[in-house]
Amino acid sequence: MLSAKIEPVPSPFSLTDEASYQQWRADKLAAATRFAAIPIAHPGQLTAVERRQLLSSVEAQNFALFQVTDAVDDIEAALHAFGSGLGLLGIDQNLCAEDSGVTAITVRPTDTEHTYIPYTNRPLGWHTDGYYNAGEQQIRAWLLYCAEPAAEGGDNELLDHEIAYIRLRDENPDWIRALMADDAFTIPLNVERGRQIRPDHSGPVFSISPVDGSLHMRYSARQRNVIWRDDPTTRDAAAFLLDLFRNGDDHMLRYRLNANEGIVSNNILHRRDGFRDDPAAGAKRLVYRARYFQRLPRPEEE
Ligand SMILES: [Fe+2]
Repeated sequence: MLSAKIEPVPSPFSLTDEASYQQWRADKLAAATRFAAIPIAHPGQLTAVERRQLLSSVEAQNFALFQVTDAVDDIEAALHAFGSGLGLLGIDQNLCAEDSGVTAITVRPTDTEHTYIPYTNRPLGWHTDGYYNAGEQQIRAWLLYCAEPAAEGGDNELLDHEIAYIRLRDENPDWIRALMADDAFTIPLNVERGRQIRPDHSGPVFSISPVDGSLHMRYSARQRNVIWRDDPTTRDAAAFLLDLFRNGDDHMLRYRLNANEGIVSNNILHRRDGFRDDPAAGAKRLVYRARYFQRLPRPEEE
C-alpha cells in the first residue's frame, strides 16, 4: 500500500494549519536581513562567537555571508573542518569532487559529452543544489568560498527558499499543493556514451523533512532537462517563480564574492552571472564548494 504523505502537525508548511503558517510568516518577514559578511579568523578553527553569529544568520534567512580574515594554507582541508565545525557532517562526494568532498569550481575542459555549465564562464540560472538527486539524497546545505574572483562578473544572486514559499502561498495556496505533489518535477535520465548515469525520477519541489519539519526545495529554472507536471496549476506556479526571479524581491540579494569571502546556506535558491577571467592579471575565478545531506543546526542546538 502506498503510504500517505506524513506532515508533522502543527507545521507552518502544512496547508491545513493556517494559524502556524501566519505566525511563522510574520516572524520570518520581520526578521532582519543580514547582508554583511561575518568575519571568521580561520574557518578550520571556528570560535564559539563566530559559530553563533553564522548560525544565527542562517536561522533568520537560511544563509550567512562570511569573510576569512587570516591566511589559510590548505583551504580545502580548512573548509572541510569549517563544515564539520558548523555541524555539517554528511558531505556529498559528487562526480567531480576532490577526495575531501570539496569541489574546485573554475573554468576547465570537461571530458564528458555534456558540458557542465558550472565549469564554464557561462551564467547559471536559478536553482537549488542537487535538484537532480533521487529522494533520499537531497542536498540540504552547501557552502561556497571564493579563493579568487573573476576579472569581471560572476556575481551571485540569493533568495531564501522559504521566502519563495511565502510569495507562492500568499498568492495561491493551491500552487503549494501542486508543488508538493510527488510528480511535480521530473528529471529525465542522464546518459553518457550509452551508459545511464542517472535514472529518470520524479519528486516534489517543496517537501517537509520528516527529521526536523524543515522545508526543502528542489528547483531548477532550466527549461531543458526538467519536466514539470503537465497541469495548469503546476504550470502557473512555475511561471510565478520565474516572474518572481525576474521582478526581484526585497529579500533577494545580489552579491559578488570577493577573495576570501563565502556563503553557507540551507540550500537556498541561487544563481550566478556569467564572467570573464583574465589569468594574466591573476584573475581566474576559483570558488570552492561543499554540499551536505543535512541542514545547519539552530544556534541553540550547540
Ligand atoms: Fe548551485
